[in-house]
Amino acid sequence: MKRIGVLTGGGDCPGLNAVIRAVVKTASLKYKYEVIGIEDGFDGLVLPNKTRVLTPWNIRGILPIGGTILGTTNRANPFQYKVTKGGKTEVKDISRKLLKKVQTLGLDALVVIGGDGSLTIASELFKMGCPIVGVPKTIDNDILATDVTFGFNTAVETATEALDRLHTTAESHHRVMVVEVMGRYVGWIALETGIAGGADAILIPEIPFDIGKVCKKINDRKKGGSRSSIVVVSEGAKPIGGEVSVISASEKGGCAERLGGIGDRVGRELCSGCAGMEVRVTVLGHLQRGGSPNAYDRILSTRFGVAVVDLIARKRIGEMVCLRGQAIESVPLSEAVRDQKRVSAEEGMVKIAESIGICFGR
Ligand code: F6P
Repeated sequence: MKRIGVLTGGGDCPGLNAVIRAVVKTASLKYKYEVIGIEDGFDGLVLPNKTRVLTPWNIRGILPIGGTILGTTNRANPFQYKVTKGGKTEVKDISRKLLKKVQTLGLDALVVIGGDGSLTIASELFKMGCPIVGVPKTIDNDILATDVTFGFNTAVETATEALDRLHTTAESHHRVMVVEVMGRYVGWIALETGIAGGADAILIPEIPFDIGKVCKKINDRKKGGSRSSIVVVSEGAKPIGGEVSVISASEKGGCAERLGGIGDRVGRELCSGCAGMEVRVTVLGHLQRGGSPNAYDRILSTRFGVAVVDLIARKRIGEMVCLRGQAIESVPLSEAVRDQKRVSAEEGMVKIAESIGICFGR
């Protein structure tokens, strides 16, 4: 009988539990594998007492639940791991120790459900001999090898619902509403939320903006009789020639760079550029990551979970499942983390949005 491990790494996202459930059910029912759940991402392979057996019985009811029953962290990089001894903190490479733990646990394969950070770690560990297979996760939808990551669709739905609500209050008060959404260095959430939620302007990292153009759009709308406007701003958006708004820099062995604040900045500039109009800013933040996955994400997560165990059975270790068109396929982990999937400024959804008059500040 094979024994496989499963962990969730990086920021959480809707659908993680649905993947865990599909992995456990497929492993147990289809292949009679034993599944070991590893808690808190790669931390679970470093720290003691962070593993437990998962069975179809003890994971009952998790399909619609947000977050991850295994816990996660975006700070446990085994190649740059913070170790505190005698009050002194050092950053160490403890990847060998982690590999040993995988052997001690008797894992024939380890399923890593993660975003670009966790999958990059997974790819490096695989090169060192760790039997890893991957599942792409992130609300940002920035993983190049897959058309869609699970969690993205739910995040867009959550943000779209917020826009629907903001429309009514914006209209009542004749205000400009600026909504800052997540997405780090790519604009997929902002773009799709903006289109689905009827935004008037969308600012994304891939298209540096000229605030004057956004003011003109809002002022023109006002002249035309529209007394409210909605502007969706991706947290990674930046003005032409300007910088991304950073809350805190990345830390070796700690947090990645944290973005935020561009919504406020855009709000202030619109306030002075759109005379007579009141401006308010809403930052959606982690609301986009929490909560129950929608039906689309439950199905995609289930498909990924089943497919990743099938990969193990077919001895396709070192690969990641992905969605290409309507089909679930797989790619080598190294290819999966080669680059980020960015919004194209000159085709596809941006062009669709511009055709219906949405302004990108250019
Ligand atoms: O990568 C997912 C994501 O939600 C990004 O959109 C966002 O920039 C980041 O994680 C926030 O991370 P944290 O949970 O550490 O604040």
